[in-house]
Amino acid sequence: MSSPPDSVRSALSKYLILPKLIRLSRSAPKDRAVAWDRYWAGIARTGAKSEVLWDSGTDHEVLGYRDALERHFDPALPVVDIGCGHGGFSRALAAFYPRVLGVDVSAHAVARARGESAGLDNVSFVRRDMTQPGAGTGLVGPGDVNVFIRGVLHVLDRTDQGALMDNVLQLVGTRGAVFLAETNFQGNPVEYVSHLGASVRNIPAPLELAIRKLPMPGRFGPEELARVLPADRWSLLEDGLATIETNPMTDAPGDSLIPGYFALLRARQ
Ligand SMILES: C[S@@+](CC[C@H](N)C(=O)[O-])C[C@H]1O[C@@H](n2cnc3c(N)ncnc32)[C@H](O)[C@@H]1O
Repeated sequence: MSSPPDSVRSALSKYLILPKLIRLSRSAPKDRAVAWDRYWAGIARTGAKSEVLWDSGTDHEVLGYRDALERHFDPALPVVDIGCGHGGFSRALAAFYPRVLGVDVSAHAVARARGESAGLDNVSFVRRDMTQPGAGTGLVGPGDVNVFIRGVLHVLDRTDQGALMDNVLQLVGTRGAVFLAETNFQGNPVEYVSHLGASVRNIPAPLELAIRKLPMPGRFGPEELARVLPADRWSLLEDGLATIETNPMTDAPGDSLIPGYFALLRARQ
């Protein structure tokens, strides 16, 4: 029997990483909230030379969303950044909106976000699991808010996505809007980690840390949106392709860009 052509061999060779991926991901806690908090507890550096996979260390991505936000966010309303992590996006938003509140399920993420935001008086942080019933109650006092979500829905299962959006529906009320930007990579986990620069010889450190400590992420695009934000409850104002900018872990510029999806929505009356 003749051997397969080089192109087929090279396409298949990336799957040699599979046993290592399975071994690494076995150590991630099954409880998602525990996994996130342990992950953040172990992070020593963000920004330049960040250890965090989805941290590009710049405001470039959020500035790309600014026109769309301006079209639909009432600028007088506070912004709640759900799943804020170390607060990089919350701080960037605080330059344009009167008040920003970052919310995260991880106490270590919130502590880190507070520490990195010292001196900014219009941004604050609170720990809350936004999939719990009533989690939006009392977050920012009475009144509607705008909600910003980046890279959170694709890390939740479908039940938790629905539960989180139920809380968002209460938060936005009649005047607020929700912006979301999510990873929407069309491929299997091996293709995903290969895209981010992993090979059988080497896995970039921020990627390896995420594989070892966190649940395997999914994707979130128009199909998922239609399931989780049904048209009888939400009006879609605008959506489209986004590019999720991650930690530049290799010298190949494309490796740090993940195909994504953004949408802006308002609650139906
Ligand atoms: C991929 S990170 C994105 C962080 C941040 N939005 C960013 O883009 O830099 C996902 C974040 O969502 C948080 N998270 C996960 N589940 C959550 C929940 N149920 N409620 C609130 N935050 C949650 C995690 O702790 C983590 O900080």
